[in-house]
Amino acid sequence: MAQKDDIDAAIARVLTSGSYVLGPEVAAFEVEFAQYVGVRHAVAVANGTDAITLALRALGIADGEVITTPLTAVATVAGIVAAGATAIVCDINADTLTLDPSAVERAISPRTRALLPVHLYGGVADLDALTEIARRHGVRLIEDCAQAPGARWRGRACGSFGDIGCFSFYPTKNLGALGDGGMAVTDDEELAARLRRLRQYGWDALRNTRETGINSRLDEVQAAVLRVKLKRLDADNARRRQIASRYDAGLAGLPVTTVRADAQTSPVHHLYVVRLRDRAGALTALEARGVRAGVHYPCLVHHEPGYASRVRAVGSMAVAEDAVETVISLPMFPQLTDAQVDEVIAALREVLQARAAA
Ligand SMILES: Cc1ncc(COP(=O)(O)O)c(C=O)c1O
Repeated sequence: MAQKDDIDAAIARVLTSGSYVLGPEVAAFEVEFAQYVGVRHAVAVANGTDAITLALRALGIADGEVITTPLTAVATVAGIVAAGATAIVCDINADTLTLDPSAVERAISPRTRALLPVHLYGGVADLDALTEIARRHGVRLIEDCAQAPGARWRGRACGSFGDIGCFSFYPTKNLGALGDGGMAVTDDEELAARLRRLRQYGWDALRNTRETGINSRLDEVQAAVLRVKLKRLDADNARRRQIASRYDAGLAGLPVTTVRADAQTSPVHHLYVVRLRDRAGALTALEARGVRAGVHYPCLVHHEPGYASRVRAVGSMAVAEDAVETVISLPMFPQLTDAQVDEVIAALREVLQARAAA
């Protein structure tokens, strides 16, 4: 296992280096990750939630409204709320389950400061429409790329379209650390400098503070491991695409709806999500056949008890409300074999056929 050897060597290098937080591994990873995304600057932080919070703060959005999607990890709104802003959610596109630009257009108000699309499940939100809307209304665009490192829109990596792109390296992500980690990327030098200050108490290079910051540093072990794994990311994403194509072909003709990508998108399939009725019954029947499927997500963020007071829903939520009842995530990770994928397809086929016969 070449990658395990490389990871072991990377960790050993850090252990004897005497530098454990924000050192040379982090600096090198920032350069390599910026190159990978095709931007000038990458600022490593402690997790993806902090990347969102610090992106908003770096852009001066500590209050006001940020428009995002109701169908996302609660972390997206946790990041917005921690910055002091209010999340506004509006409906999503029925095919891609990402922010619907026409719903965004209707949700924009004089209080709107930013759009924050989420590239859900490794797909990409409609960046043509969203960048145009942001420009026309004079608001910022921040991309939540936690689930989509390496995904492309018209051949360009997501994260490079917005003022700032935010990534998570939580272990289950396509690019996963051995703990927490995150990154904020930008082409703007001043924004990068401000992100660097904000991630460490507000310190400048001389450790003088000009504003309040937080402690959101990435450690050297995570950076060293992520440098090894970044080299494999494209190959892993390619394998995820193969698995997704196998699912697509195997599920054709069954009464399930698959989540689709726009033609401009090269997705990275963080999750493979299908939609079906009577989800609870399907999950139980799949489990009985040895297939553990997930639900991403069981609750729209404006209904999350801890966040409801800081998230406002605007307009019809018909698509999101249907999606939240019907989505299931089939097993998806690069190590899955074709035979395992075929077992999942066969199990789902059986479940749906048994249902049709009942
Ligand atoms: C869409 C989305 N945004 C943000 C995050 C936050 O990342 P983290 O868990 O690293 O804080 C996650 C991951 O949990 C996510 O899936």
